[in-house]
Amino acid sequence: MNILIAEDDFVARRILHKMLEKLGHQVISCENGLKAWEAIRNNEARLAILDWMMPKIDGLTLCRKIREEKLPEYVYVILLTSNDQKSDIVEGLNAGADDYMTKPYDPYELKARIRSGQRVLKLEDDLKSTTSQLLHSEKLASLGTLSAGIAHEINTPMQYLQYNTLFLQESFAGIVNLLKAYGSLESRIAGIGAVQPLFREVRDIENEIDLAYILEEIPRAVRESIEGVAHVTEIVRSMREFTHPGNRQIAPMNINEAVSNTIRVTQNQWTRVADIRLDLEPDLPLVPCIQGEFNQVVLNLIVNAAHAIEERIDKDPDAERGIISIVTRRMENHVEVRVQDNGTGIPDMIRPKIFDPFFTTKEVGRGTGQGLAISRSVIVDRLGGRLTFDSRVGEGTTFIVRLPLDPAPPPVR
Ligand SMILES: Nc1ncnc2c1ncn2[C@@H]1O[C@H](COP(=O)(O)OP(=O)(O)OP(=O)(O)O)[C@@H](O)[C@H]1O
Ligand SMILES: [Mg+2]
Repeated sequence: MNILIAEDDFVARRILHKMLEKLGHQVISCENGLKAWEAIRNNEARLAILDWMMPKIDGLTLCRKIREEKLPEYVYVILLTSNDQKSDIVEGLNAGADDYMTKPYDPYELKARIRSGQRVLKLEDDLKSTTSQLLHSEKLASLGTLSAGIAHEINTPMQYLQYNTLFLQESFAGIVNLLKAYGSLESRIAGIGAVQPLFREVRDIENEIDLAYILEEIPRAVRESIEGVAHVTEIVRSMREFTHPGNRQIAPMNINEAVSNTIRVTQNQWTRVADIRLDLEPDLPLVPCIQGEFNQVVLNLIVNAAHAIEERIDKDPDAERGIISIVTRRMENHVEVRVQDNGTGIPDMIRPKIFDPFFTTKEVGRGTGQGLAISRSVIVDRLGGRLTFDSRVGEGTTFIVRLPLDPAPPPVR
């Protein structure tokens, strides 16, 4: 693991560095508190050994800073003192240190204290991933109940909209026939003088309401209403399928259909900034999958892609709309889904962290940093697949989901 040491004394720093390397750790050495603070803020190490007396920022102040600043991950701090006076130790622990050590270092003590730090950090990580899973299931559950309820509510009025528009379409054809019959009646009795004023009256009304226009436009309006109803019905069906509580088990799934449904229900997330290009392999084999959770993964990837494009557009007002392209392919023994965007790309420095629970670069309310952590746990842990990415800063990012056609049984935990 990465361990940071901050120690101004060159000799003491080298000794500590060597000892830690011997124990198999990657060591980041800093000669003052400021450099140490920068490295910690960049999330370069989870365990820090800080000397009490240092130039720029001393160990105690640095310790307080670490606790006050909201760092994405817990940093375990061991303070180094030159004497083991109780008052010093108490002050150090109060400043937020987790442990302390007195100089000169004893290698066995160092090893034991680092082990204890690693235990704490592991507990911390476990807790985080459990919380994230809990939040995940809650998020899914509430989204599911809510949209299943809405879908149900919308379904009923949609049904009578559908019947009524069909009724209008059919009956209007009848009315048009009747109007034609009136027209021929008129031409036959036009010669009778007494009915002339009546005909004029009728014609005036026809002109007033622009009958020719109405006859042309009403069928179009009805046809469009029927299309609109069909579209809404389709969205409701996607929503119901997307959140159906019955699809939480592994079952053969049509990936192309799941992708299309997800695109439909996420439309409001991307439609303003990007177009979606689909390249779905026809006759893709069914893949053993948990439909609800797979949908959630595709949703996360699409939303991330839309956000990355939006960020690029925000930076450059002349930028064009983005493109999110989604490709499905059958490979030898797995199926691949690629979600590609031409957004900002992912900076090198944060690449190792994007799958960490709660890691986010988005402001509060826009992202919680759970999307990729959850997606990876669904694809890797639950379905035995892989989730990887390829990214170029300034060009865009492609996330690649691989699902085995014949998955190994999930590991026993
Ligand atoms: N397609 C992408 N392009 C650029 N950066 C990305 C992309 N996908 C993810 N990231 C980066 O990875 C971080 C983590 O992504 P993740 O989906 O886990 O969380 P989030 O999107 O920030 O929040 P949440 O998904 O919980 O709403 C993002 O904050 C972003 O910095
Ligand atoms: Mg996300």
